[in-house]
Amino acid sequence: MSVFPHKHLLGTERLSARDLTTVLDLGDRFAEIATRPIKKVPTLRGKTVVNLFLEASTRTRTSFEIAAKRLSADAINISGASSSTVKGETLLDTANNIDAMAPDVVVVRHAQAGAADLLSRRLRAAVVNAGDGAHEHPTQALLDCSTIRAHKGPIAGLTVAICGDITHSRVARSNIFALVTLGAHVRVAGPRTLLPPGISELGARVHDRIEPALEGADVVMMLRIQKERFGTPLFPNTREYSRYFGLNEKRLALAKPDAIVMHPGPMNRGVEIDPEIADGGRAVILDQVARGVAIRMAVLYLLAGGESGVE
Ligand code: CP
Repeated sequence: MSVFPHKHLLGTERLSARDLTTVLDLGDRFAEIATRPIKKVPTLRGKTVVNLFLEASTRTRTSFEIAAKRLSADAINISGASSSTVKGETLLDTANNIDAMAPDVVVVRHAQAGAADLLSRRLRAAVVNAGDGAHEHPTQALLDCSTIRAHKGPIAGLTVAICGDITHSRVARSNIFALVTLGAHVRVAGPRTLLPPGISELGARVHDRIEPALEGADVVMMLRIQKERFGTPLFPNTREYSRYFGLNEKRLALAKPDAIVMHPGPMNRGVEIDPEIADGGRAVILDQVARGVAIRMAVLYLLAGGESGVE
């Protein structure tokens, strides 16, 4: 059987523990390349990666580009504002035109859930979901698992509290799937208006207050309020939200003394997380970003079929 028996990476929901571990182990090996004076290996020479980002991104788009370049693939970036989608071209027409130029991998971010799945059924290229609406963001979950493993050891048995806007968070969904598969105890916490129905069926324990979710946690993952994904307000105001759901020193003291603090970014300082915690010694937020490059290298390698080995 292939080391990674998937043509596309659309989500973590259908990945086995073995699939997840394959990506994480390979990511650990690729992480070393960032420490070299020349951060480049010939592994994907001759391969082409198109980053089709039709929704805003700083970390994901940049790290996919760096990942492709560190593996010597050709990386082409297309953003919503600079593409013909602004002239009315559909996502499928745009993607079919890109596919006609024979890329090996198309990395897609789109505001619509299911966009990556649609492309995976129409394109010859491998498709990576870089975030589709509130559905999934698999490489974020993989880089989060990589960061947790690096700081806390094996994920099985750890307690992970994911706090904030769970309803609109593709990061929360992808992390719940991956962490539960790897044997973590996952708790989610947020205001009732930001907890989606059926979330407990994914294997997470649900809390409508942050304190019980934080109690004894090994990992605290804070999420941004995604106001862009809801029309009518779902809580009174950000001050009120911060008062009841923001991570401050007093609340963090409920977690284990060696608990780490994570955030996928972008952060709203002073809303879901106090700046002192975001910049403090327990935060591993920039380590998450660094690991994102290595994890995306692993994903591109597995899907584009590197020929010259990992070294
Ligand atoms: N975490 C994340 O997806 O960040 P960007 O939106 O900047 O890519």
